[in-house]
Amino acid sequence: MFNANDIRKDFPALSRLVDGRRNTYMDTAASAQKPLAVLNRIQKMYIEEYANVHRGSYWLSERATENYERARQTVAQFINAKDKREIIFTRNATEGINLVAATWGQYNLKAGDEVLLSRAEHHANLVTWQQWALKTGAILRYFDLAEDGSFIFENFKNALSERTKIVAVTAMSNVLGTLFPVKQISTEAHKVGAKVLIDACQFAVHKKIDVADFDCDFLAFSGHKVYGPTGIGVLYGKYDLLAEMSPYQFGGDMIEHVSYDKTTFALPPARFEAGTPAIVQAVGLGAALEYVMQYDFNDIEAYEKELINYTTDKLSNIPNLKIIGTASDKGGVFSFDIKGIHPQDLAFVLGKEGVAIRTGHFCAEPIVNLLGYNSLARASLGIYTTKEDVDEFINALNKAINFFK
Ligand code: ALA
Repeated sequence: MFNANDIRKDFPALSRLVDGRRNTYMDTAASAQKPLAVLNRIQKMYIEEYANVHRGSYWLSERATENYERARQTVAQFINAKDKREIIFTRNATEGINLVAATWGQYNLKAGDEVLLSRAEHHANLVTWQQWALKTGAILRYFDLAEDGSFIFENFKNALSERTKIVAVTAMSNVLGTLFPVKQISTEAHKVGAKVLIDACQFAVHKKIDVADFDCDFLAFSGHKVYGPTGIGVLYGKYDLLAEMSPYQFGGDMIEHVSYDKTTFALPPARFEAGTPAIVQAVGLGAALEYVMQYDFNDIEAYEKELINYTTDKLSNIPNLKIIGTASDKGGVFSFDIKGIHPQDLAFVLGKEGVAIRTGHFCAEPIVNLLGYNSLARASLGIYTTKEDVDEFINALNKAINFFK
Protein backbone atom coordinates (compact mmCIF):
# COMPACT_ATOMS: atom_id res chain seq x y z
CA MET A 1 0.00 0.00 0.00
CA PHE A 2 1.15 3.53 -0.81
CA ASN A 3 2.24 5.36 2.31
CA ALA A 4 4.53 8.38 1.91
CA ASN A 5 5.70 8.15 5.54
CA ASP A 6 7.01 4.64 4.91
CA ILE A 7 8.39 5.56 1.50
CA ARG A 8 10.35 8.42 3.04
CA LYS A 9 12.25 5.86 5.12
CA ASP A 10 13.45 4.15 1.92
CA PHE A 11 15.44 7.27 1.02
CA PRO A 12 18.51 7.41 3.30
CA ALA A 13 19.29 11.06 2.49
CA LEU A 14 15.92 12.12 3.90
CA SER A 15 16.62 10.57 7.31
CA ARG A 16 19.89 12.43 7.70
CA LEU A 17 20.07 15.76 9.43
CA VAL A 18 21.17 18.65 7.21
CA ASP A 19 23.20 21.22 9.07
CA GLY A 20 21.68 19.78 12.26
CA ARG A 21 18.09 20.07 10.98
CA ARG A 22 15.43 17.67 9.71
CA ASN A 23 15.87 17.34 5.96
CA THR A 24 12.74 18.87 4.44
CA TYR A 25 13.47 18.33 0.78
CA MET A 26 11.10 20.34 -1.40
CA ASP A 27 13.22 20.43 -4.58
CA THR A 28 12.37 17.16 -6.31
CA ALA A 29 11.51 19.01 -9.53
CA ALA A 30 15.19 19.93 -9.87
CA SER A 31 16.46 16.48 -8.88
CA ALA A 32 15.05 13.66 -6.76
CA GLN A 33 16.64 11.82 -3.84
CA LYS A 34 17.45 8.12 -4.37
CA PRO A 35 15.96 5.07 -2.64
CA LEU A 36 18.25 2.49 -1.04
CA ALA A 37 17.14 0.00 -3.72
CA VAL A 38 18.90 2.12 -6.36
CA LEU A 39 22.03 2.70 -4.26
CA ASN A 40 22.31 -1.03 -3.46
CA ARG A 41 21.78 -1.98 -7.09
CA ILE A 42 24.58 0.34 -8.21
CA GLN A 43 26.94 -1.04 -5.60
CA LYS A 44 26.09 -4.67 -6.45
CA MET A 45 26.60 -3.99 -10.13
CA TYR A 46 30.06 -2.49 -9.60
CA ILE A 47 31.12 -5.19 -7.15
CA GLU A 48 29.64 -8.31 -8.71
CA GLU A 49 28.56 -7.78 -12.30
CA TYR A 50 30.63 -5.07 -13.89
CA ALA A 51 32.38 -5.08 -17.26
CA ASN A 52 31.80 -3.35 -20.59
CA VAL A 53 28.61 -4.27 -22.48
CA HIS A 54 28.07 -5.77 -25.96
CA ARG A 55 31.81 -6.43 -26.25
CA GLY A 56 32.84 -9.48 -24.24
CA SER A 57 32.01 -13.17 -24.31
CA TYR A 58 33.17 -13.73 -20.74
CA TRP A 59 30.86 -14.09 -17.73
CA LEU A 60 31.10 -10.55 -16.34
CA SER A 61 30.48 -8.88 -19.69
CA GLU A 62 27.53 -11.17 -20.38
CA ARG A 63 26.00 -10.32 -16.97
CA ALA A 64 26.61 -6.58 -17.52
CA THR A 65 25.00 -6.76 -20.97
CA GLU A 66 22.06 -8.71 -19.61
CA ASN A 67 21.52 -6.12 -16.84
CA TYR A 68 21.89 -3.18 -19.21
CA GLU A 69 19.39 -4.65 -21.68
CA ARG A 70 17.02 -5.63 -18.86
CA ALA A 71 17.04 -1.98 -17.76
CA ARG A 72 15.99 -1.06 -21.30
CA GLN A 73 13.09 -3.50 -21.01
CA THR A 74 12.12 -1.97 -17.65
CA VAL A 75 12.03 1.49 -19.24
CA ALA A 76 9.84 0.12 -22.06
CA GLN A 77 7.46 -1.27 -19.44
CA PHE A 78 7.50 2.00 -17.46
CA ILE A 79 6.39 4.04 -20.46
CA ASN A 80 4.36 1.28 -22.14
CA ALA A 81 6.49 1.09 -25.29
CA LYS A 82 5.72 -1.99 -27.33
CA ASP A 83 9.33 -2.68 -28.33
CA LYS A 84 12.47 -2.17 -26.25
CA ARG A 85 14.35 -1.19 -29.41
CA GLU A 86 12.42 2.08 -29.18
CA ILE A 87 14.31 2.99 -25.99
CA ILE A 88 17.58 4.88 -26.37
CA PHE A 89 19.71 5.59 -23.35
CA THR A 90 20.96 9.16 -23.33
CA ARG A 91 22.73 11.34 -20.79
CA ASN A 92 19.48 13.05 -19.81
CA ALA A 93 16.33 14.53 -21.40
CA THR A 94 18.37 17.43 -22.74
CA GLU A 95 20.52 15.04 -24.75
CA GLY A 96 17.43 13.15 -25.94
CA ILE A 97 15.90 16.36 -27.32
CA ASN A 98 19.24 17.40 -28.84
CA LEU A 99 19.45 14.00 -30.49
CA VAL A 100 16.06 14.43 -32.16
CA ALA A 101 16.88 17.97 -33.27
CA ALA A 102 20.30 17.03 -34.63
CA THR A 103 19.14 13.93 -36.49
CA TRP A 104 15.46 14.16 -37.38
CA GLY A 105 15.46 17.98 -37.26
CA GLN A 106 18.60 18.55 -39.29
CA TYR A 107 17.34 16.46 -42.20
CA ASN A 108 13.62 17.23 -42.06
CA LEU A 109 13.44 20.94 -41.31
CA LYS A 110 13.94 23.45 -44.07
CA ALA A 111 13.53 27.20 -44.41
CA GLY A 112 9.94 28.25 -43.74
CA ASP A 113 8.95 25.08 -41.88
CA GLU A 114 7.57 25.67 -38.41
CA VAL A 115 8.49 24.22 -35.05
CA LEU A 116 5.71 24.71 -32.50
CA LEU A 117 6.43 25.10 -28.77
CA SER A 118 4.43 26.34 -25.81
CA ARG A 119 5.52 29.51 -24.03
CA ALA A 120 6.29 27.42 -20.93
CA GLU A 121 9.10 25.21 -22.27
CA HIS A 122 12.26 24.95 -20.24
CA HIS A 123 15.65 25.54 -21.81
CA ALA A 124 16.30 21.88 -22.68
CA ASN A 125 13.46 22.02 -25.18
CA LEU A 126 13.34 25.72 -26.04
CA VAL A 127 17.02 26.50 -26.63
CA THR A 128 17.57 23.28 -28.58
CA TRP A 129 14.81 24.02 -31.11
CA GLN A 130 15.63 27.72 -31.18
CA GLN A 131 19.19 26.92 -32.20
CA TRP A 132 18.21 24.27 -34.75
CA ALA A 133 15.64 26.66 -36.21
CA LEU A 134 18.47 29.15 -36.69
CA LYS A 135 20.61 26.49 -38.37
CA THR A 136 17.88 25.20 -40.67
CA GLY A 137 15.93 28.39 -41.39
CA ALA A 138 12.84 26.93 -39.74
CA ILE A 139 10.51 29.29 -37.87
CA LEU A 140 9.95 28.88 -34.15
CA ARG A 141 6.32 29.49 -33.11
CA TYR A 142 4.93 29.62 -29.60
CA PHE A 143 1.39 29.25 -28.32
CA ASP A 144 0.22 31.00 -25.13
CA LEU A 145 -1.18 29.50 -21.96
CA ALA A 146 -3.81 31.26 -19.86
CA GLU A 147 -2.66 33.71 -17.20
CA ASP A 148 -3.25 31.12 -14.46
CA GLY A 149 -1.16 28.62 -16.45
CA SER A 150 -4.06 26.59 -17.86
CA PHE A 151 -3.61 24.95 -21.23
CA ILE A 152 -5.90 26.54 -23.83
CA PHE A 153 -6.50 24.04 -26.59
CA GLU A 154 -7.71 26.71 -29.02
CA ASN A 155 -4.40 28.57 -28.70
CA PHE A 156 -2.51 25.42 -29.61
CA LYS A 157 -4.83 24.58 -32.48
CA ASN A 158 -4.67 28.09 -33.92
CA ALA A 159 -0.88 28.01 -33.95
CA LEU A 160 -0.80 24.64 -35.72
CA SER A 161 -0.79 24.57 -39.54
CA GLU A 162 0.35 22.59 -42.56
CA ARG A 163 3.70 24.35 -42.08
CA THR A 164 4.19 22.80 -38.63
CA LYS A 165 6.74 20.00 -38.91
CA ILE A 166 7.14 19.22 -35.22
CA VAL A 167 5.32 20.07 -32.01
CA ALA A 168 7.74 19.91 -29.08
CA VAL A 169 6.05 20.43 -25.73
CA THR A 170 6.33 19.59 -22.09
CA ALA A 171 3.79 17.22 -20.55
CA MET A 172 4.01 19.16 -17.28
CA SER A 173 5.45 22.62 -16.81
CA ASN A 174 8.30 22.84 -14.30
CA VAL A 175 7.29 26.42 -13.50
CA LEU A 176 3.49 26.37 -13.54
CA GLY A 177 2.80 22.72 -12.85
CA THR A 178 0.27 22.70 -15.72
CA LEU A 179 -0.43 19.27 -17.17
CA PHE A 180 -0.68 19.28 -20.95
CA PRO A 181 -3.30 17.16 -22.80
CA VAL A 182 -0.63 15.14 -24.58
CA LYS A 183 -2.86 12.66 -26.34
CA GLN A 184 -5.07 15.38 -27.86
CA ILE A 185 -1.97 17.35 -28.84
CA SER A 186 -0.66 14.30 -30.74
CA THR A 187 -3.97 13.67 -32.47
CA GLU A 188 -4.25 17.27 -33.65
CA ALA A 189 -0.60 17.54 -34.70
CA HIS A 190 -0.76 14.33 -36.69
CA LYS A 191 -3.76 15.67 -38.63
CA VAL A 192 -1.43 18.24 -40.23
CA GLY A 193 1.39 15.72 -40.63
CA ALA A 194 3.55 17.13 -37.81
CA LYS A 195 5.67 14.98 -35.53
CA VAL A 196 5.25 15.25 -31.76
CA LEU A 197 8.01 15.32 -29.16
CA ILE A 198 7.02 15.19 -25.49
CA ASP A 199 9.34 16.45 -22.79
CA ALA A 200 8.26 14.25 -19.87
CA CYS A 201 10.92 15.38 -17.34
CA GLN A 202 8.41 16.51 -14.72
CA PHE A 203 5.46 14.40 -15.80
CA ALA A 204 7.41 11.13 -15.28
CA VAL A 205 7.52 11.81 -11.54
CA HIS A 206 3.83 12.46 -11.08
CA LYS A 207 1.81 10.61 -13.72
CA LYS A 208 1.86 7.39 -15.69
CA ILE A 209 3.60 7.76 -19.05
CA ASP A 210 1.84 5.75 -21.74
CA VAL A 211 3.45 6.30 -25.14
CA ALA A 212 0.97 3.93 -26.79
CA ASP A 213 -1.91 6.07 -25.57
CA PHE A 214 -0.12 9.41 -26.14
CA ASP A 215 0.79 8.28 -29.66
CA CYS A 216 3.73 10.71 -29.56
CA ASP A 217 6.61 10.21 -31.98
CA PHE A 218 9.33 11.00 -29.43
CA LEU A 219 9.40 11.35 -25.66
CA ALA A 220 12.32 12.21 -23.40
CA PHE A 221 12.91 12.17 -19.66
CA SER A 222 15.83 12.28 -17.21
CA GLY A 223 16.74 9.49 -14.81
CA HIS A 224 17.79 11.71 -11.92
CA LYS A 225 14.31 13.23 -11.62
CA VAL A 226 12.60 9.83 -11.29
CA TYR A 227 14.74 8.69 -8.34
CA GLY A 228 17.50 7.26 -10.56
CA PRO A 229 21.15 8.23 -10.95
CA THR A 230 22.45 11.31 -12.73
CA GLY A 231 24.03 10.93 -16.16
CA ILE A 232 21.28 8.77 -17.59
CA GLY A 233 18.13 9.63 -19.49
CA VAL A 234 15.75 8.11 -21.97
CA LEU A 235 14.65 8.97 -25.46
CA TYR A 236 11.69 7.01 -26.78
CA GLY A 237 11.05 7.09 -30.53
CA LYS A 238 8.66 5.15 -32.75
CA TYR A 239 10.80 2.43 -34.26
CA ASP A 240 10.15 3.19 -37.93
CA LEU A 241 11.11 6.79 -37.39
CA LEU A 242 14.29 5.89 -35.52
CA ALA A 243 15.21 3.44 -38.26
CA GLU A 244 15.10 6.29 -40.83
CA MET A 245 17.23 8.64 -38.72
CA SER A 246 20.95 9.10 -39.16
CA PRO A 247 23.33 8.66 -36.21
CA TYR A 248 23.75 11.33 -33.58
CA GLN A 249 27.36 10.61 -32.63
CA PHE A 250 29.93 8.33 -34.22
CA GLY A 251 32.14 5.72 -32.57
CA GLY A 252 32.10 2.22 -31.19
CA ASP A 253 28.99 0.07 -30.75
CA MET A 254 26.86 2.13 -33.18
CA ILE A 255 28.39 0.53 -36.28
CA GLU A 256 27.65 -2.52 -38.40
CA HIS A 257 30.88 -2.64 -40.47
CA VAL A 258 33.83 -0.29 -40.71
CA SER A 259 36.53 -0.04 -43.36
CA TYR A 260 39.14 2.69 -43.84
CA ASP A 261 36.83 4.44 -46.28
CA LYS A 262 33.33 3.69 -45.18
CA THR A 263 31.06 2.73 -42.28
CA THR A 264 27.62 1.17 -42.16
CA PHE A 265 25.57 1.72 -39.05
CA ALA A 266 23.78 -0.55 -36.59
CA LEU A 267 20.01 -0.58 -36.25
CA PRO A 268 18.38 1.41 -33.40
CA PRO A 269 18.85 1.66 -30.51
CA ALA A 270 22.59 0.84 -30.91
CA ARG A 271 22.85 3.39 -33.76
CA PHE A 272 22.24 6.16 -31.21
CA GLU A 273 24.42 4.87 -28.38
CA ALA A 274 27.96 5.55 -29.56
CA GLY A 275 30.83 4.56 -27.28
CA THR A 276 30.68 2.85 -23.92
CA PRO A 277 27.31 3.87 -22.48
CA ALA A 278 26.45 4.82 -18.90
CA ILE A 279 26.08 1.12 -18.02
CA VAL A 280 25.66 1.26 -14.27
CA GLN A 281 23.54 4.39 -14.41
CA ALA A 282 21.16 2.63 -16.81
CA VAL A 283 20.90 -0.32 -14.43
CA GLY A 284 20.38 2.12 -11.54
CA LEU A 285 17.60 3.78 -13.52
CA GLY A 286 16.01 0.37 -14.06
CA ALA A 287 16.07 -0.16 -10.28
CA ALA A 288 14.49 3.27 -9.72
CA LEU A 289 11.66 2.55 -12.15
CA GLU A 290 11.09 -0.87 -10.58
CA TYR A 291 10.93 0.89 -7.23
CA VAL A 292 8.24 3.28 -8.51
CA MET A 293 6.35 0.52 -10.31
CA GLN A 294 5.75 -1.40 -7.09
CA TYR A 295 3.09 1.27 -6.53
CA ASP A 296 -0.02 1.85 -8.56
CA PHE A 297 0.18 5.22 -10.31
CA ASN A 298 -3.48 5.78 -9.40
CA ASP A 299 -2.43 5.71 -5.73
CA ILE A 300 0.55 7.98 -6.38
CA GLU A 301 -1.70 10.45 -8.18
CA ALA A 302 -4.48 10.30 -5.57
CA TYR A 303 -2.01 10.96 -2.77
CA GLU A 304 -0.40 13.79 -4.69
CA LYS A 305 -3.76 15.40 -5.38
CA GLU A 306 -4.46 15.41 -1.66
CA LEU A 307 -1.04 16.91 -0.94
CA ILE A 308 -1.46 19.53 -3.67
CA ASN A 309 -4.75 20.65 -2.12
CA TYR A 310 -3.21 20.65 1.34
CA THR A 311 -0.21 22.73 0.21
CA THR A 312 -2.35 25.11 -1.88
CA ASP A 313 -4.61 25.80 1.12
CA LYS A 314 -1.66 26.50 3.40
CA LEU A 315 0.11 28.74 0.88
CA SER A 316 -3.10 30.61 0.11
CA ASN A 317 -3.37 31.66 3.77
CA ILE A 318 -0.01 33.41 3.74
CA PRO A 319 -0.44 37.18 3.23
CA ASN A 320 1.35 38.71 0.22
CA LEU A 321 2.18 35.28 -1.23
CA LYS A 322 1.15 34.67 -4.81
CA ILE A 323 1.14 31.16 -6.25
CA ILE A 324 2.25 31.24 -9.88
CA GLY A 325 0.39 28.55 -11.80
CA THR A 326 -3.02 27.62 -10.51
CA ALA A 327 -4.43 25.54 -13.37
CA SER A 328 -6.99 23.02 -12.11
CA ASP A 329 -5.03 20.25 -13.84
CA LYS A 330 -1.60 20.61 -12.29
CA GLY A 331 1.15 18.46 -10.79
CA GLY A 332 3.07 18.99 -7.57
CA VAL A 333 5.12 22.11 -8.18
CA PHE A 334 4.43 25.43 -6.49
CA SER A 335 6.17 28.47 -7.87
CA PHE A 336 5.49 31.54 -5.79
CA ASP A 337 6.43 35.10 -5.04
CA ILE A 338 6.23 36.93 -1.74
CA LYS A 339 5.89 40.67 -2.06
CA GLY A 340 8.95 42.46 -0.74
CA ILE A 341 11.16 39.38 -0.22
CA HIS A 342 13.67 38.32 -2.86
CA PRO A 343 13.38 34.56 -3.53
CA GLN A 344 17.10 34.12 -2.98
CA ASP A 345 16.91 35.68 0.50
CA LEU A 346 13.88 33.56 1.27
CA ALA A 347 15.61 30.35 0.17
CA PHE A 348 18.62 31.20 2.30
CA VAL A 349 16.53 31.57 5.46
CA LEU A 350 14.54 28.41 4.62
CA GLY A 351 17.81 26.55 4.07
CA LYS A 352 18.86 27.45 7.60
CA GLU A 353 15.65 25.73 8.77
CA GLY A 354 16.55 22.58 6.79
CA VAL A 355 14.02 23.33 4.05
CA ALA A 356 15.30 23.02 0.47
CA ILE A 357 13.49 25.00 -2.23
CA ARG A 358 14.61 26.21 -5.62
CA THR A 359 14.82 29.84 -6.72
CA GLY A 360 15.58 31.66 -9.94
CA HIS A 361 14.07 31.01 -13.35
CA PHE A 362 14.19 27.20 -13.09
CA CYS A 363 15.93 26.89 -16.49
CA ALA A 364 12.82 28.42 -18.04
CA GLU A 365 13.78 32.10 -18.18
CA PRO A 366 11.37 33.18 -20.96
CA ILE A 367 8.18 32.11 -19.16
CA VAL A 368 9.31 33.49 -15.81
CA ASN A 369 10.08 36.84 -17.50
CA LEU A 370 6.79 36.74 -19.42
CA LEU A 371 4.96 36.35 -16.11
CA GLY A 372 6.68 39.55 -14.97
CA TYR A 373 9.44 38.14 -12.75
CA ASN A 374 13.20 37.75 -12.89
CA SER A 375 13.20 35.17 -10.17
CA LEU A 376 10.66 33.03 -8.31
CA ALA A 377 10.72 30.56 -5.44
CA ARG A 378 9.54 27.00 -6.01
CA ALA A 379 8.66 24.07 -3.77
CA SER A 380 8.03 20.71 -5.38
CA LEU A 381 6.68 17.34 -4.29
CA GLY A 382 7.95 13.81 -4.74
CA ILE A 383 6.74 10.32 -3.89
CA TYR A 384 8.33 10.69 -0.43
CA THR A 385 6.89 14.12 0.46
CA THR A 386 4.73 13.97 3.57
CA LYS A 387 2.30 16.38 5.22
CA GLU A 388 4.98 16.90 7.85
CA ASP A 389 7.31 18.16 5.07
CA VAL A 390 4.65 20.61 3.94
CA ASP A 391 4.07 21.77 7.53
CA GLU A 392 7.81 22.26 8.08
CA PHE A 393 8.01 24.21 4.83
CA ILE A 394 5.06 26.45 5.78
CA ASN A 395 6.44 27.04 9.29
CA ALA A 396 9.80 27.99 7.82
CA LEU A 397 8.09 30.35 5.37
CA ASN A 398 6.24 32.09 8.21
CA LYS A 399 9.48 32.40 10.16
CA ALA A 400 11.23 33.89 7.14
CA ILE A 401 8.39 36.37 6.58
CA ASN A 402 8.65 37.51 10.21
CA PHE A 403 12.41 37.74 9.87
CA PHE A 404 12.12 40.11 6.90
CA LYS A 405 9.38 42.25 8.44
N1 ALA B 1 14.64 22.13 -15.13
C1 ALA B 1 15.00 21.75 -13.80
C2 ALA B 1 14.18 22.46 -12.76
O1 ALA B 1 13.05 22.72 -13.02
C3 ALA B 1 16.45 21.75 -13.53
O2 ALA B 1 14.65 22.72 -11.68
